[in-house]
Amino acid sequence: MNSIQNKVVFITGGGHGIGLSLGKVFAGHGARVVLADIDAQRLSTAKALLAESGLAVETIVCDVADAGSVKKAADFTIERFGKVHIVINNAGVSLAGKPGAIPLEDWRWIVDINLMGVVYGVEVFVPLIMSHGEGGYIINTASMAGHIAGPSMSPYHATKYAVVGYSESIRQDLQANNIGVSVLCPAWVRTDIHNAGINKPSLAQHSKARREAFEPGVSGFAEVIENGIAPDALAQWVYECMLAERFYIFSHPSMTKHIKTRAELIETDYAAIVEDGRFSAH
Ligand SMILES: NC(=O)c1ccc[n+]([C@@H]2O[C@H](COP(=O)([O-])OP(=O)(O)OC[C@H]3O[C@@H](n4cnc5c(N)ncnc54)[C@H](O)[C@@H]3O)[C@@H](O)[C@H]2O)c1
Repeated sequence: MNSIQNKVVFITGGGHGIGLSLGKVFAGHGARVVLADIDAQRLSTAKALLAESGLAVETIVCDVADAGSVKKAADFTIERFGKVHIVINNAGVSLAGKPGAIPLEDWRWIVDINLMGVVYGVEVFVPLIMSHGEGGYIINTASMAGHIAGPSMSPYHATKYAVVGYSESIRQDLQANNIGVSVLCPAWVRTDIHNAGINKPSLAQHSKARREAFEPGVSGFAEVIENGIAPDALAQWVYECMLAERFYIFSHPSMTKHIKTRAELIETDYAAIVEDGRFSAH
């Protein structure tokens, strides 16, 4: 894709953080943008904020964990603009906790949003992109947490590794249809992601203050997120990477060493079975 002028872009998690910044950058480069988010208040603040910079966007309340809601948001997009070219499956939440102590309802919550939300975005929108024959692009927001894993965030890592693998696969499927795919894998970005766990189902019966006090993700990641890169700067990089049709979109050069360490561990463990020789015919 060499220009996004007048292209129609649908962005989930568009009410705040990276999604909002992507909306700003893509609208700023001449695209017609729909921001979708579960939070109506965030959407109206986002719309007003962009209007201050002279950028008009459409907004739609959408829960990406609900395939029907994603379908309604797609219908809205087609109603407004007639077609859609670029879909950014970006909405996501975080969930901290140690194995054996994570309520299964919270596990399902994060899988439904971080993985199934991306899947619904692809399943609903790909036929719409194919229908006009002008080609298109899908950007799935995973994370650096989809390439390297630390402790106490296993549900987040599991969903983000899944989004990386899913994107690697659909990229090959969609090439023939002139639909490019990128997977966005940033490290720390200054947003509200560390607070998302306060909305997990196991805390639903508590007040907001109690939920904040209960959620380890809030205190554990606040500092790195608050010192992260600016979402507007990341969004501009994403735009440039999409035009360059770069599949992996990384943000933090300092993370290269962790990628190398993981690759070395895989190579070392692979070498063990090669040296052993018992399956050498395979
Ligand atoms: N901030 C970081 O450091 C970082 C790093 C790597 C990846 N990411 C990923 O970036 C994406 C965007 O997060 P962010 O950092 O901008 O956080 P954010 O919390 O600032 O924004 C996320 C937005 O998604 C919305 N959302 C949550 N659940 C939703 C649902 N079910 N349906 C629709 N919208 C929903 C929220 O209301 C919010 O507006 C996420 O997928 C996140 O995992 C963030």
